[in-house]
Amino acid sequence: MPAITATAPGKIILFGEHAVVYGRPAIAVPVNEERARAIVMADPRGQVGEIRINAPDVGLETSLEQLPEDQPIRAAVEGVLSELGIARPPACTLRITSTIPISAGMGSGAAVSVALMRALSSFLGHPLSNAHVSELAFEVEKIHHGTPSGIDNTVITYAMPVYYVRGQPLETLRLPEPFVIVIGDTGLPSPTALVVGELRGDWQMDQDKYEALFDSVAVIVKDARATIENGNMGALGALMNQNHEYLRQMGVSSPELESLVEAARSAGAAGAKLSGGGKGGNMIALTDDGGAVEIESALRDAGAVRTIVTTIEESKYIQTDA
Ligand code: MEV
Repeated sequence: MPAITATAPGKIILFGEHAVVYGRPAIAVPVNEERARAIVMADPRGQVGEIRINAPDVGLETSLEQLPEDQPIRAAVEGVLSELGIARPPACTLRITSTIPISAGMGSGAAVSVALMRALSSFLGHPLSNAHVSELAFEVEKIHHGTPSGIDNTVITYAMPVYYVRGQPLETLRLPEPFVIVIGDTGLPSPTALVVGELRGDWQMDQDKYEALFDSVAVIVKDARATIENGNMGALGALMNQNHEYLRQMGVSSPELESLVEAARSAGAAGAKLSGGGKGGNMIALTDDGGAVEIESALRDAGAVRTIVTTIEESKYIQTDA
């Protein structure tokens, strides 16, 4: 049996994080420059049913059954096996690598699940459709994140810019004008599950305040969609700044994120905001081709441990089955 490889991109949320958990829309795009990769190889000396896991990035070299049942890789493998009704797969080794920063709000966990599910289901002779992969990856996301909205597994599975509303059919975005995003990593882990949980506690204490903030974010997300789809990029930066302000008011920013957002704006970014769960992880800044280098350097001076530049443009994305 030949080795089977599959990959999946990272992601960033452009607009609407957190509010999306409460049914409001959000916009996310894949980051193709950073990817998770899964390779499945037959193990002729192994016993039927035995799956070995080799994930050097997280120091795993073990058999599947030695992992705790709620370990995300194990959950992803078992999700595929149960979906395909295969109790005893041929012996194989699953190698997982990724360049997506872990716990940085770039969807590393969802990308590993998606790559693994694709490679394993193809290896077993029944490649899963995107809809199935996304659904199964969502189940694994629940282990990571408790109450995920589903945006991460969706944008990563379809590898297309998405306008996402929980529970509604997938809508992809048109991108008549390319734009450039600089991602700045605070280097602090973004504990998405924790931040989402804390925000839920705050929401329970003062629903009026948070519902109003989520509604304000929803207006921005809709404006941002129209702006992007009309190719009217001049207006996008101000919308990012406004979205960041609402995220601050939700209490999900941090001093490190604030200083990177400030540095990007001072270096000429058209707009900047935190991206993903917050309280660490990444921020994003909007620029044109010429401005990215200066913004990267300002972000590094302000303490960013990593910067990534990604161009959001139609031709990069391949339409796949929905
Ligand atoms: C995480 O990438 C985005 C959040 O909105 C959580 C979610 O949507 O599941 C913070």
